[in-house]
Amino acid sequence: MSIQMNGLPLDHPWPEPKLPELWYSDTIKGLHASTENDWDSLRLSALQTAAGRALWRHVIHDPLAGLLAGETYLKSLYDKIKKDRLNNAREVSGVIIAVRTLWFDTKLEAAINSFEDRAAQVVLLGAGMDARAYRLNCLKESNVFEIDFPEVLQMKTTILQAAENSKKEAEHFIVTAKSVSRVAADIRQKDWLNKLQLAGFEPHKNTVWVLEGILYYLSHSQAMEVLNIITENCNLTHTVLLADFMNKQSTTLSKSNFHFYSDWPDQLLPSLGFSDVNLSQIGDPDAHFGLLHDPQNLFNKLLSLPRSTETHPDDGKPCCRLYLVQASGSPSQTKS
Ligand SMILES: C[S@@+](CC[C@H](N)C(=O)[O-])C[C@H]1O[C@@H](n2cnc3c(N)ncnc32)[C@H](O)[C@@H]1O
Repeated sequence: MSIQMNGLPLDHPWPEPKLPELWYSDTIKGLHASTENDWDSLRLSALQTAAGRALWRHVIHDPLAGLLAGETYLKSLYDKIKKDRLNNAREVSGVIIAVRTLWFDTKLEAAINSFEDRAAQVVLLGAGMDARAYRLNCLKESNVFEIDFPEVLQMKTTILQAAENSKKEAEHFIVTAKSVSRVAADIRQKDWLNKLQLAGFEPHKNTVWVLEGILYYLSHSQAMEVLNIITENCNLTHTVLLADFMNKQSTTLSKSNFHFYSDWPDQLLPSLGFSDVNLSQIGDPDAHFGLLHDPQNLFNKLLSLPRSTETHPDDGKPCCRLYLVQASGSPSQTKS
C-alpha cells in the first residue's frame, strides 16, 4: 500500500472532507446565531442532519444543505470527520445520515414511479431543513407538504428568501416539485392533520409519507397515534410510508431525546393495517451505497447478529440498530 506524507494510504476509502464554500449574509448569520441560542435540541437536530448532507456532498446532491445548516454545525461535523479520517475510524461521522438520506431518496423515487401517473402527494413529517422539494426531479408532478414546528419552518423560509434575494447560487432555489407548502404544526397535537388539509392535502390522492428522523422523538402513545392516522389513510387511497425506527437499545443513546422505539417494526406495521412491509438495516444491500467499506464496522458486525441480540458478544455494548422501513397499503388490502 502506498503511503502519503500524512501517513494516510493513497487509496483511503473516504475523500478528504471539504467545507462547502458558502456565502452567508449578515441576516443569515444572525438567524443562525439566534437559533443556536434559543432552540432546544429537538429543533436543533434539523441543523445537524442538514450539516451531514452538506459534508457528504460527494454522494448526496443537496446544494442548499450547507446554507440551512449554518457554519457552527458544519464546522463541528467537519472536525469530527477529519479526526475519524486521521484515526482510521471504522465508521466515519455522518455516515448514517448519508446512508439514510440516500435510502429515502431511492425509495421515494421508486414509490412515485410505482404510481400510474407518476404523481403522488408527499408529506414530510418533521421536515426540518429537508430540501427534497428543490433537489429531486422525481417530484415534478408532486405536491410536497413540509410539517414542522412554526419556528423551524419560519427560519427555513427566511434563510431561503434571504439567499434568493441576494441572487447568489440562484439555480438552487428553483422548486423541482410541483409545489411545496409549509405546514406549521406540532404532530403531538391532534390538529395537525386538519392543518395539513387546510394547506391543500387531499386525503383521497395517492400519498407518500416520509418520516425521516422523527418517530423516536415522540412518546410511544404519540408515535402510535401518528402511525394510526397514516394507516387510516390506507382506507382511502394507495399509501406508502417510508420511516426509520430505532430499536430499544438505540434510545439509550440519548435518554432525554429518544423515546419511541420498535424492535420489530416489520410486525408492528402489518398489525396496524399495512399490507406490504420491507425492512432494511444500515449495511444491507439496499442501504449500503458503497459507504461501509470496513467489514468490521459497527453496522456490518450488527448485520451478522440475530436481531433479538441485545448486547454485542464481542464487547458487551448495546446493539443499537436503525431500521429503514417501507410499507404500503391501499383500500383493497386494508384490514377492516
Ligand atoms: C432529526 S430532525 C430530521 C429533519 C429531517 N427529516 C431530516 O432528515 O433532515 C427532526 C425534525 O423533527 C422536528 N420535530 C420533532 N418533533 C416534532 C413535532 N412534535 N412536531 C413537528 N416537528 C417535530 C424537529 O423540529 C426537527 O426538524
